[in-house]
Amino acid sequence: MSPFHVPSEAIILERIQESPNIFTLRLQFADNTQAFKFMPGQFNMLYLYGVGEVAISIVSDPLDDHFFAHTIRVVGRTTEGLSKLKAGDCVGIRGPFGRGWPMLEAEGKDLLLVTGGLGCAPLVSVIEYIMRRREQFAHVDILQGVKHADDMIWRKRYAQWAQAPDVNVLLTADLPDHVNWPGDLKGNVVQLFKRLDLRPDNSLAMLCGPELMMKAAITELQQHNMSDDNIWLSLERNMHCGIGQCGHCQMGEKFVCKDGPVFAYPEISANFHLDSI
Ligand SMILES: Cc1cc2nc3c(=O)[nH]c(=O)nc-3n(C[C@H](O)[C@H](O)[C@H](O)COP(=O)(O)OP(=O)(O)OC[C@H]3O[C@@H](n4cnc5c(N)ncnc54)[C@H](O)[C@@H]3O)c2cc1C
Ligand code: FES
Repeated sequence: MSPFHVPSEAIILERIQESPNIFTLRLQFADNTQAFKFMPGQFNMLYLYGVGEVAISIVSDPLDDHFFAHTIRVVGRTTEGLSKLKAGDCVGIRGPFGRGWPMLEAEGKDLLLVTGGLGCAPLVSVIEYIMRRREQFAHVDILQGVKHADDMIWRKRYAQWAQAPDVNVLLTADLPDHVNWPGDLKGNVVQLFKRLDLRPDNSLAMLCGPELMMKAAITELQQHNMSDDNIWLSLERNMHCGIGQCGHCQMGEKFVCKDGPVFAYPEISANFHLDSI
């Protein structure tokens, strides 16, 4: 059977608590002889033995090809079980699956990375990728919005990224609290667009997070004359097989697991109605 059907064993090297209900696992395959090749935006299926399997984005940089990382929010049975694991414990891994972000098309362009909540996970590996290859891309805007200030994980990383040349980082919270909030920005992430100096002719946008947020962002980008071909988004659907066989993640004629999770907007616009904001 192919490794895409049978999980390979991976060992937890480190477990990091990012917020009360979000944690990161740094992992390495038990048989660590081969490099683990993936593209930013791809995901793995994590199997918690005896409990269940869940789709989780890979958040590390593909250059670190002998270990990889996942950041997980506890929402149900499997993610809760995964949260109880510690360094030295094992999980099963199938993957990497799906199509990642268009890194070749992005070269030489201004990049607008817009994320909401833990939606930032599929874009973190892109940001790491860009930072290590900064000269290959033009101006970079990173916009991250959360509901509560406490949900803003990776603040140190955002602060580091903001130091890189020609990188603009804007963080916002719907409900900032005065004690625990570094910036003066509050409200919805899409409201930050008015602070940007977008060059639609040479820009590519990457969006991930709640679908309502992505729909609002697409509408705003269209109003800024951004071509739909340059708007990319990462979708989440209920997944079982991860390889286009069970139909759980089907969206029209597309399978989110196999044809996505990253899509150019025109590829899915027929099933992603902007008027349902
Ligand atoms: C391509 C892809 C990438 C993903 N990447 C990540 C990632 O990097 N990190 C991460 O934490 N999750 C990610 N997810 C979501 C993750 O797969 C689900 O949260 C997980 O399957 C939930 O499994 P569970 O058994 O813990 O919860 P379940 O028992 O299946 O669900 C419990 C309850 O939570 C609800 N629920 C399920 N998923 C979510 C969700 N995403 N948000 C809020 N409520 C939910 C269910 O409707 C149900 O009511 C990704 C999903 C996809 C498809
Ligand atoms: S998860 Fe089975 S077809 Fe996509």
